[in-house]
Amino acid sequence: MKVTTIILAAGKGTRMKSALPKVLHKVCGKPMLEHVINAAKGAGSEREIVVIGSGAEEVEKSITGVEFALQAEQLGTGHAVKMAKDKIANADGIVMILCGDTPLVTSDLLTKFIESHEQSKATATVLTAIMPDATGYGRIVRNQSGTVDKIVEHKDASPEELQIHEVNAGIYCFDIKTLFEALDKVTNDNAQGEYYLTDVLGIIRDKGLIINAMISNDFTQILGINSRQQLALAERILRQRKNFELMDSGVTILDPDSTFIDSDVEIGRDSTILPFTYIENGTVIGENCSIGPNCRLQDTKIGNNVIMQFVYAHECEVDDDVVIGPYVHLRPGTKISKKVKIGNFVEVKNSTIGEGTKLPHLQYIGDSDVGENVNIGCGTVTCNYDGKKKHRTTIGDNVFIGCNTSLVAPVKIGSNAYTAAGSTITQDVPENNLAIGRARQVNKSTWKDKRE
Ligand code: UD1
Ligand code: CA
Repeated sequence: MKVTTIILAAGKGTRMKSALPKVLHKVCGKPMLEHVINAAKGAGSEREIVVIGSGAEEVEKSITGVEFALQAEQLGTGHAVKMAKDKIANADGIVMILCGDTPLVTSDLLTKFIESHEQSKATATVLTAIMPDATGYGRIVRNQSGTVDKIVEHKDASPEELQIHEVNAGIYCFDIKTLFEALDKVTNDNAQGEYYLTDVLGIIRDKGLIINAMISNDFTQILGINSRQQLALAERILRQRKNFELMDSGVTILDPDSTFIDSDVEIGRDSTILPFTYIENGTVIGENCSIGPNCRLQDTKIGNNVIMQFVYAHECEVDDDVVIGPYVHLRPGTKISKKVKIGNFVEVKNSTIGEGTKLPHLQYIGDSDVGENVNIGCGTVTCNYDGKKKHRTTIGDNVFIGCNTSLVAPVKIGSNAYTAAGSTITQDVPENNLAIGRARQVNKSTWKDKRE
């Protein structure tokens, strides 16, 4: 059956105490709303309508691949669903409703949930879980035969109802027509003065229609994020899930508790991730690598057999068999070819480094094209900025750059050339030449005697 999804994301998120709309707070590198959208799409939802209100413009700007409905005033979850009515009242199939603040829900669970709804032939299905601490959640009130009677919000619950640990996940499937008919009957006569979506269940039951409940055996998937403490908890759970998934696929993670990997990261078999390492923003790592300790990689592609420690790399590419670190900064636009060695305290920016080249210690290489098998001496700097513009440095294959060379760009060093240590190179160096750009040394044999 066709599934259209409504995702509620218009609330203020008062309990977050934030200028940022709640659903844009990130979990494992992605806004929580995006996790929810991905879970819906992964479960076969064909259309997603996100109800926005608080910070609507910001949400609309940050989220792609969905439709939006505006809830100008946040009068409750039931009112929010009504705002999507025009967009789906005539749609075929069923509607699934999710909250933008439950980022831990998976496609697997939603797939089973939709199946459960379809098989039960119910008018409405609600997802529930047994929550150890049910504080803040709507409680599932069942009648004597065990079927769902209604949902009572925490703030409206009686002392007996507060003892119930089965809670509403805020995830539902409905027959579209019945849902909107029932929503018209919902009032705001409750502790929060809001139009509760949860009230439609009681209304549907009163009509004598079937309400089905599916109990998830993993309560962590339905955790709703209302506060920063809950955000941190979600981060921990999602990160652990990602780490377990990687370990199951053949990656060694020495200490999962101190390894922070975004959900969209890929890592190949037999790679090892050492502690205090952050792998973020779509980074892809090949097989047999050793990454960490203390690396931070963002939007970076890394080949096979790469060894890195104490490295910060962002928006770069590193090919196979490269050794980098410690204390290296690879900045955007950098491409490192196979078998390169980059040693201590080196910064490379917007440069290509050819195969087999060595940058062993204390270099700044910016806006440069460096050939193959080049050896760059300690302390070498590309002077790429003249105070107004950036200029490129080009170094051919098999070049030897002496220690403490300043390469004043724009400048070209031909292949097989040498620069003498301590040179300031301001002119191009032809192939096979030795360039010396420094004052000649003078030894004064009588100076000491004269002084004394
Ligand atoms: C809601 C449920 C509760 C459930 C819990 C699960 C209701 C009345 N209560 O409570 O039974 O156990 O979720 O996490 O539905 N929103 C709007 N417009 C509004 C109000 C809220 O779009 O006018 C959105 C929020 O942005 C949020 C979602 O709906 O993404 C849930 O709202 P929230 O205020 O967090 O509801 P809870 O109190 O958590
Ligand atoms: Ca919530």
